[in-house]
Order: sequence, then C-alpha cells, then structure tokens
Amino acid sequence: MPDLVLETDRLVLRTITEHDVDDHDRHLNTQAVTARLGGVMERHQIEARHARGMAMYAKDGFSFLFMIEKSSGQMVGYGGIKWVDNPRAPNIGDHEVGWIVREDRWRRGYAYESMTAILDWAFTRIGAPHVVALTSHANIGSWKLMEKLGMERREDLDFFDPDYPEEDNPAIQYSLTQEQWQAQE
Ligand SMILES: CC(C)(COP(=O)(O)OP(=O)(O)OC[C@H]1O[C@@H](n2cnc3c(N)ncnc32)[C@H](O)[C@@H]1OP(=O)(O)O)[C@@H](O)C(=O)NCCC(=O)NCCS
Repeated sequence: MPDLVLETDRLVLRTITEHDVDDHDRHLNTQAVTARLGGVMERHQIEARHARGMAMYAKDGFSFLFMIEKSSGQMVGYGGIKWVDNPRAPNIGDHEVGWIVREDRWRRGYAYESMTAILDWAFTRIGAPHVVALTSHANIGSWKLMEKLGMERREDLDFFDPDYPEEDNPAIQYSLTQEQWQAQE
C-alpha cells in the first residue's frame, strides 16, 4: 500500500508502488511530456526510476510522488524531492524538486498546487535548508513555474550536460531557501 503523503484541494500525493509502471508509461511517458527531459523512456528505465524512488523514500523519507486527481482517481503527474545526482552539477547532494504533469491536464494549476505542498513538505517536515530545481532556457513553462513559486535564478549553478541536446543546454538552476519560503507564507 502506498503512503498518502500530502493532500491538496484537488490532488492526493502518494508514494510509488510496484504497480505504477503501466500508468506512468501511458500517461506521463509521452513525447509531449518528455520532450525536454531526454525523450520517452524504455519500460525498464521507468522500473529502475521507480525502484530508486522507493528505496530513497524508505531510506531518506522523501522521493518523487504520484499526483492522483481526486475527482477521477487517475494519475495526473509525478513530482517531489530527490538529491541532486547529476555528476556534472556543482551542487550534488542538494535537495532538488521536480515535476511533470500529463498533457491533457496542463494549465489547470496542478503543478503549482502540488509543488506548493511539496515545498511545504521539504521545509517543514523534511527540514531541507534550501531546495533547487533544474531546467533549461527552452523549457519556458518549467522556469516560469519556478518563478511563480518564488524561486531565485542561480546562474552560478548552471552547467553543461552533454547527455542533452544543444537546445537544452546549459542546465539552469533556481533555488529557494527555507527563509525565503517562510517569508512568502
Ligand atoms: C511544466 C509543467 C509541469 C507545468 O504543469 P502545469 O500543471 O500545466 O502548470 P500550472 O498550470 O500549475 O502552471 C503554473 C505556472 O507555470 C507556468 N507555466 C506552466 N505552463 C506554462 C507554459 N506552457 N507556458 C508558460 N508558462 C507556463 C505559468 O507561470 C503558470 O502560472 P499561470 O497559470 O498563473 O500563468 C508541464 O507543462 C509539464 O509537465 N511539462 C513537461 C515536463 C517538464 O518539462 N517538466 C519540468 C521538468 S524541469
């Protein structure tokens, strides 16, 4: 059984289980959703990502979570907290937040609603001193969301990632400290 970690007006955010690969593949592993994230994944890559997430939740008490729409019971997104683990990033080991929402639910406020709850989780229950989020200049929706969440552009943390195409480089970062978050509340 998954842990029901967070609840918002329209969403339940729950932990990953062994039974989520099919829904993740169908709803979230699409061309549109993965266009700026390295492209559609093979099934075994989704399985490996879920296994890492479940292990992280068991060990560290946080991970990415599935966003379940209360009105339909369907999986509509995936977002949460992980450690920065890109070996080229200058800040490996920071708390990193991230998100994806399935295409037929874009622009309904689900990313903002879920990430507001996830930032609160990061700062009040997990005790993260600050969080970062990674994207690229081309992913306009994503960095605009970071700005809407009150995050600050951190050019000092940008880095080149040869695993991504030229249009998605450099990787750019935004950050938010616990103090900045509290000041917004
Ligand atoms: C980025 C993404 C998660 C946004 O999800 P969403 O639920 O549609 O976002 P929301 O409706 O909560 O929008 C919140 C804010 O984000 C920004 N935003 C979201 N989509 C945007 C778009 N297409 N263009 C411009 N700004 C956008 C806006 O500032 C918006 O606030 P507003 O509605 O007041 O203008 C979604 O487009 C997605 O899954 N993209 C593909 C995956 C991805 O790239 N994830 C990010 C990895 S870093």
